[in-house]
Amino acid sequence: MRRTNIQLDKNNNLRHFLSVEGLNRQILTDILDTAESFSSIGSQQVKKVPLLRGKTIANLFFEASTRTRTTFELAAKRLSADVLNISISTSATVKGESLLDMLRNLESMHCDMFVVRHGESGAAHFIATHVAPHVSVINAGDGCHAHPTQAMLDMFTIRQHKGGFADLRVAIVGDIKHSRVARSQIHALTTLGVTEVRVIAPKTLVPREVQSLGVHVFHDMEQGLRDVDVVIMLRLQNERMKGAYLPSAHEYYQLYGLTTEKLGYAKPDAIVMHPGPINRGVEIDSLVADGPQSVILDQVTNGIAVRMAVMSMTLGRSATQGSVKREATKAGPKAGKEAQ
Ligand code: CP
Repeated sequence: MRRTNIQLDKNNNLRHFLSVEGLNRQILTDILDTAESFSSIGSQQVKKVPLLRGKTIANLFFEASTRTRTTFELAAKRLSADVLNISISTSATVKGESLLDMLRNLESMHCDMFVVRHGESGAAHFIATHVAPHVSVINAGDGCHAHPTQAMLDMFTIRQHKGGFADLRVAIVGDIKHSRVARSQIHALTTLGVTEVRVIAPKTLVPREVQSLGVHVFHDMEQGLRDVDVVIMLRLQNERMKGAYLPSAHEYYQLYGLTTEKLGYAKPDAIVMHPGPINRGVEIDSLVADGPQSVILDQVTNGIAVRMAVMSMTLGRSATQGSVKREATKAGPKAGKEAQ
């Protein structure tokens, strides 16, 4: 029996966005193209389009966030939606209310979308299986499992700087084991057809299952970075480590911290990315993080357009992709021009 993908409706339009895994190249490209059509809105005098006017979006962040929460909020506001930012620490969950009861109450207020960050892998999927039929769920990061909008804003940034995905070698460096970002990036990069995905990490921070995803594993920066076009650095996710994975942060920096010298192993025009938050002097040197090859702040900017795309595509699910793009294109002079 064919398993249904709960992320898609019966017409194969995006209904929820829970993981990159299970979505095909066409849908990922639609997200990037739709985001492209929104990318000029931030530099307009009136940073708004009416696409989600009348919709209500609730941000439910059970884990700390700076970039993801604020860019989801900005994205929703730029689409003219009403936004509820639920403060979990001051909500009735501290009085023992269950997650599902909280959701039922928010549904009673006619919320149309839940954006969820949670420490448990699978939390967003669980919520998506319990919401009312008109409600969409977007995963803003669940445990070590997935961070799909981060992966898509990273893909957008790579396409922006490299023009596409064919012929690219991409290295993801750091704590792969605990990184939901790395898992989503690997699925996105392989689906979009890059030539090679490498992961570079100490043996203790490479999960066994990563080999089955078709990536090449390196434990040495000089070998792993040789001739790559894109270097994606990850922080050590100390809050998820249950045990001693490394001798010391100092030794980690000596072996895996990205310095100007180590970046010299990559192609001269390689770009440096990091999902943030960055830990300077642990996984990356300031000279690199703030240097000419860094596109780290472009990633943040692009997060707004990509989140606008995902929100409009999931909530505009009765409309065709084309109509979402046409609405977005009306918004800005540059809109749609570079979409390809
Ligand atoms: N990249 C990322 O998820 O950052 P935040 O934790 O600040 O949202």
